[in-house]
Amino acid sequence: MSIADDPDRAPARSHLYAMGMSEEEMRRPMIGIASTWTGTMPCNLTHRELAAHVATGVRRAGGTPMEFNTIAVSDNLTMHTPGMRASLVSREIIADSIELMGRAHGFDALVCVVGCDKTVPAAIMALARLDVPAVVLYSGSMMPGRWRDRDVTIQDMWEALGERAVGRLDQADVDDLAKHACPGPGTCAAQYTANTMASVTDFLGLAPFGIGDIPAVADTKNAAAERVGEIVMDALARDARPSRVLTEDALHNAIVSVAAMGGSTNAVLHLLAIAREAGLPLRIDEIGAICRQVPIITRLMPSGRHTAADLWRAGGTALVARRLLEAGLLRPDAVLVDGRTYADVAAAAEEAPGQQVVATVEHPAKARGALAILRGSLAPDGCVLKLSGKEDFRREGPARVFDGEDACFAAIQEGRIRPGDVIIVRYEGPAGGPGMREMLSITGALVGQGLGDSVALVTDGRFSGVSHGMVIGHVAPEAYVGGPLALVHDGDVVVIDSAAGTLDLSVPEEELGRRRDTWVRPERPVERGVLAKYAATVKSASDGAVTV
Ligand code: FES
Repeated sequence: MSIADDPDRAPARSHLYAMGMSEEEMRRPMIGIASTWTGTMPCNLTHRELAAHVATGVRRAGGTPMEFNTIAVSDNLTMHTPGMRASLVSREIIADSIELMGRAHGFDALVCVVGCDKTVPAAIMALARLDVPAVVLYSGSMMPGRWRDRDVTIQDMWEALGERAVGRLDQADVDDLAKHACPGPGTCAAQYTANTMASVTDFLGLAPFGIGDIPAVADTKNAAAERVGEIVMDALARDARPSRVLTEDALHNAIVSVAAMGGSTNAVLHLLAIAREAGLPLRIDEIGAICRQVPIITRLMPSGRHTAADLWRAGGTALVARRLLEAGLLRPDAVLVDGRTYADVAAAAEEAPGQQVVATVEHPAKARGALAILRGSLAPDGCVLKLSGKEDFRREGPARVFDGEDACFAAIQEGRIRPGDVIIVRYEGPAGGPGMREMLSITGALVGQGLGDSVALVTDGRFSGVSHGMVIGHVAPEAYVGGPLALVHDGDVVVIDSAAGTLDLSVPEEELGRRRDTWVRPERPVERGVLAKYAATVKSASDGAVTV
């Protein structure tokens, strides 16, 4: 029974009348529109406008929209500060917020407007919990900036700090680049974490192919948002709820998309979390197995040279889907929320003549996928290596151990890291950080100093999607819970073998046993508030760092 017809809900009606709603509107399906608008970052700056356009589409299709919004944390603005600890934590808060609003209001269906990194998986996690028909609208990438006759993104900004450290740029150059790198609203402008997760959402079937690709400032974005309002009403009519869309086939396709598009390591964490929320069995090694079979077919930064706007002009994720479908790498029967099939999406994909962004599986941009999962004596529960299309490699080097990101960054900037070193940054895990800070300041500084290919970095923290180089993150178990990372000493030999899929510490077990006996867990990093609550409940990175 609708609110309009339930005698006992007259008090609720009074509040809806107060908002200007008519009885007829109360009888229509109530569609929640969750926006992650936050006026503290460019990434989500367009969300209020987009949410209003979704509402227009909902009304046009016979529904009653109800808008609300959540918090969001910008990874870029908080990077290299204690605030970065809030970033991954925000994923849980956003998911919880959307879930709570859904449960409180009993919406018939939902649209989630998302942008910055954590907002995308958070929305999917919430939708998996609520299981009402739902569509995700990705607000779109930022356009690239122009500086000294080349396209630039936030990646250039972070690497400029390393170039400054070795004298290739001075502070005036860095300050000038900062004025040009990010020309307006939108998410970070290449296949970093936000765009990786936007592609994942398309391939999971929760976002209509062709809409998330549209950049944030493109003049067709608002009309696309209205279309999403109509699509969600159609999804409601077809009962296209997440439990019918988020299947093992959908997860498979999403993992393929991450590998094929040179996606961010954070996708591993988020896919594990989404699978858990959807009740799907997914182990970190299965992600590794798919990544091993799928080449990179896009030439997107950070592994290539193109931006997200270039992908949009070239044909978008629909063109990527066509290529993957033709190669038999997708499971074609997975359900898409807009009612199309993968065959429909592939047939409708418009490839721009002469485009250079999307290659083919037969002639890929890079033969080897973006990511690899390693295990070994240093990571018994697994970790993630970012390959970004590099050849498999074996590296053996002395450990340079740092407790926390800040000490490591200082050592790099002071020139204390040598080619061949294996940097260990520990106590940055889900519970120990807490919140798995992203190590972009470190990877940016290494690349900027020309050490990106000669120094390996191993951490229980995370990496930005912008990060590249020889980087291994999400090491589990983390140091704070007594994982082997806590037992490494300066000078110990670390062996990385990507072909074998191993990460090992060449220290005899008896010696490790002695160190284990004398190891003392560090003080709790935080005692109060949201970070303490998170640290007390968060699971391992190999379980997606979820809190349930
Ligand atoms: Fe928000 Fe990159 S910091 S998308």
